[in-house]
Amino acid sequence: MNILAVETSCDETAAAVVADGRRMLSSVVASQVDVHHRYGGVVPELASRKHIEAIVPVVGEALDRSGVGPEGLDAVAATRGPGLVGALLVGFSFGKAYAYGRGLPFVGVNHLAGHINAVFLTEDPPAFPFVALLASGGHTALYHVTSHTRMRLMGQTRDDAAGEAFDKVAKMMGLGYPGGRVIGEMAERGDPQVISFPRSYLDKKGFDFSFSGLKTAVRRYLQLHADTFRDHMDDIAAGFQEAVVDVLSFKLMQAARQTGCPRVVLSGGVAANRRLRERVVAEASREGFEACLPPVSLCGDNAAMIGAAAFHELQRGTVSPLDADVYSRARLA
Ligand code: KG4
Ligand code: ZN
Repeated sequence: MNILAVETSCDETAAAVVADGRRMLSSVVASQVDVHHRYGGVVPELASRKHIEAIVPVVGEALDRSGVGPEGLDAVAATRGPGLVGALLVGFSFGKAYAYGRGLPFVGVNHLAGHINAVFLTEDPPAFPFVALLASGGHTALYHVTSHTRMRLMGQTRDDAAGEAFDKVAKMMGLGYPGGRVIGEMAERGDPQVISFPRSYLDKKGFDFSFSGLKTAVRRYLQLHADTFRDHMDDIAAGFQEAVVDVLSFKLMQAARQTGCPRVVLSGGVAANRRLRERVVAEASREGFEACLPPVSLCGDNAAMIGAAAFHELQRGTVSPLDADVYSRARLA
């Protein structure tokens, strides 16, 4: 089954064609970073307008590259939420109209289920059950995943998402938006032992996260060392990153131990972070767990992951009516 999938929940206009939830025939991602960069974050109204401009060419390119074209499609999917409502509406309305026009079934997909299903587009996908850490710009949560569509929320952030903390710290350090990738690159040149920032485990046995205290600690450090911090930016980035990675990897391993799952999965934009990937692979191997990491290209927002999740929704009979609406906030399971 070939699915055309569309993703417009934030600042990436993306389209992909995915076969049987497993094989990516094409995947096109048009980033709006240049548009939002000067504002230091995503401006929702600008995001919606840019999606409107980009959606037709991006879908056209995805269909061209797929090699199957419009006639080879069996269904259409689009991200339904959570995300920016105006941005979501562009892709969701486009998807519905396209499906209606071609007489194909349409299904709305949860963005978070999409991130978790990205791992099934890899050569060696995990078996069920597993524990998934979803760490992105909008979410940081742990899920006990027992099927493509059954994901039990174990814990989530009480304040900032991990990616949001990366972005805010980057902004404080004058590195622009989005800052996750830049901080990750700087951190590789720095020494994480030089500056020790606080790790917030909240209740150490629980699975909730908190990153706002860490962000405030970095702000205080930058204020205290206003004249000198520019001389050791790499060490600050490394110290901050290490604090985030310590907490994320600790809770992921603990969740796997507690649920008895022999596998852990990373997903979301922060899963592109080299240090996090390294640590999760090393700690999983020490504990005897299998670690499954999607390639970096599938960690950030893309439409292929939506196509992968959509396949399993359609398999279980889910079809969205044409009057279905998008949603801005939602919890999985
Ligand atoms: O999944 P995603 O593309 O969008 C959301 O659904 O939020 O995640 C974007 C987030 C941003 O906060 C970005 O700074 C972060 O992922 N990110 C990273 C890295 N690459 C992207 N954070 C840390 N290290 C990276 N290499
Ligand atoms: Zn995302």
